[in-house]
Amino acid sequence: MLLLEDVRKSYPQPGATPLAILDVPRLEVMAGEQVVIRGRSGCGKTTLLNAIGGLTAVDSGSVQVRGRDLTKLAEAARDRFRARHIGYVFQTFNLLAGFTALENVLLGMTFTGQSADPERARSLLDRVGLSHREHHRPMAMSVGEQQRTAVARALANKPVLLLADEPTANVDPAHQQQIIDLLRGACRDEGVAMLLVTHSNEVAAQFDRVEQLEEINRVVAGAPTAAV
Ligand SMILES: Nc1ncnc2c1ncn2[C@@H]1O[C@H](COP(=O)(O)OP(=O)(O)OP(=O)(O)O)[C@@H](O)[C@H]1O
Ligand SMILES: [Mg+2]
Repeated sequence: MLLLEDVRKSYPQPGATPLAILDVPRLEVMAGEQVVIRGRSGCGKTTLLNAIGGLTAVDSGSVQVRGRDLTKLAEAARDRFRARHIGYVFQTFNLLAGFTALENVLLGMTFTGQSADPERARSLLDRVGLSHREHHRPMAMSVGEQQRTAVARALANKPVLLLADEPTANVDPAHQQQIIDLLRGACRDEGVAMLLVTHSNEVAAQFDRVEQLEEINRVVAGAPTAAV
């Protein structure tokens, strides 16, 4: 379902050689599989998810989702493919400030060119415990509520692949488990594969497959020298 081969990604640096972040020979995720990605801060987890989601162009290699190589698609086609097939819970949520929780979920649906399904949007908000906040805009929601809205939005289109970048980093333990249960349950019910980044041992322990990014990535990111 997801297959990465020889994916390299570096960031340009003014006046210096590019900063290599990823060199991943292979990463495969089966349909419906749930995988945790771990690794220390700055090792490239968000960069990896962005490469898989087609938000970041890779330097070389292929990123195949359902047999389609995203690196070969033009930007507009890649955006359409992502909207239709990939759900993304961003580390920083990326909710639209001018829209309520319900509108944010509904908007995610319209990006695919299909009509929005208010009933599904409401039931997803209900599953993340936000029925009573559906008309709140992000500024009028707690950080954890914004995170839960982002989870509902990512599931809105019944994607084949869900990318979740630390989706429980900003919520209390009760809601942390609720979000994990929601993500896992919804992905299981709808046959969605999931790649989830987490720093939490408690969360990672619930998954059968845990990949340490440093082990699948050949780039050894320069560890910062401790200041003395
Ligand atoms: N646009 C960019 N330009 C240059 N360097 C970048 C850019 N984005 C990220 N980096 C660098 O790439 C490295 C990997 O960043 P990334 O966000 O993928 O890390 P991460 O593993 O998700 O970390 P965290 O656990 O803190 O979220 C970092 O060292 C970061 O400084
Ligand atoms: Mg990150």
